[in-house]
Amino acid sequence: MPKTCDVVVLLSGTGSNLQALIDSTRTGDSPARIAAVISNRADAYGLQRASDAGIDTRALDHKAFEGREAFDAALIELIDAFNPKLVVLAGFMRILSAGFVRHYQGRLLNIHPSLLPKYKGLHTHERALEAGDTEHGCSVHFVTEELDGGPLVVQAVIPVELQDSPQSLAQRVHVQEHLIYPMAVRWFAEGRLALGEQGALLDGQLLAASGHLIRN
Ligand code: GRF
Repeated sequence: MPKTCDVVVLLSGTGSNLQALIDSTRTGDSPARIAAVISNRADAYGLQRASDAGIDTRALDHKAFEGREAFDAALIELIDAFNPKLVVLAGFMRILSAGFVRHYQGRLLNIHPSLLPKYKGLHTHERALEAGDTEHGCSVHFVTEELDGGPLVVQAVIPVELQDSPQSLAQRVHVQEHLIYPMAVRWFAEGRLALGEQGALLDGQLLAASGHLIRN
């Protein structure tokens, strides 16, 4: 059994992905342990979920800082007080500075609601529908300086149905997010997942450009 892997989760919103992570790390045999949840919004429901689960929470209001660099420096200090092996972005609605990303290189994961490299940024479900895509999904990736652009770890693909709305699509993608994020975090905590020079490595093998692919 590998040693415990302390994780700090950053979020800004409802935290359904955080909940999936909490549930998966409570199964008894996961080496991942959520040491703290930090939000830039004090009213984020995700903070409530964390404290309900007995996890330390912190709020750090980005509006109290003169610019991105200053906020990110304070955020690094707050995170590093928990000494995490892994930092997980779970709906953290802030663009991170290059310095922040470099500081956590190889131990910073994000989840994005599209099949990257398609639809970086916001409104991914609307954009997939407008484009007439027959498939959509979500991606977990290592974070690099390129927004939503780091090496992919795992993607879940779902079919787009004729009657889908952005809401119905978002709902089905969320179900997949709640499966693949805990999976990726567990791989990392078990020491199976790493960021190599060429991309994401699982069990020492370079993953395909799409990451590990799960088709539904
Ligand atoms: C998810 O759709 C995730 O892909 C994106 O932000 C959303 C967070 O949702 N990065 P929740 O707060 O975990 O419910």
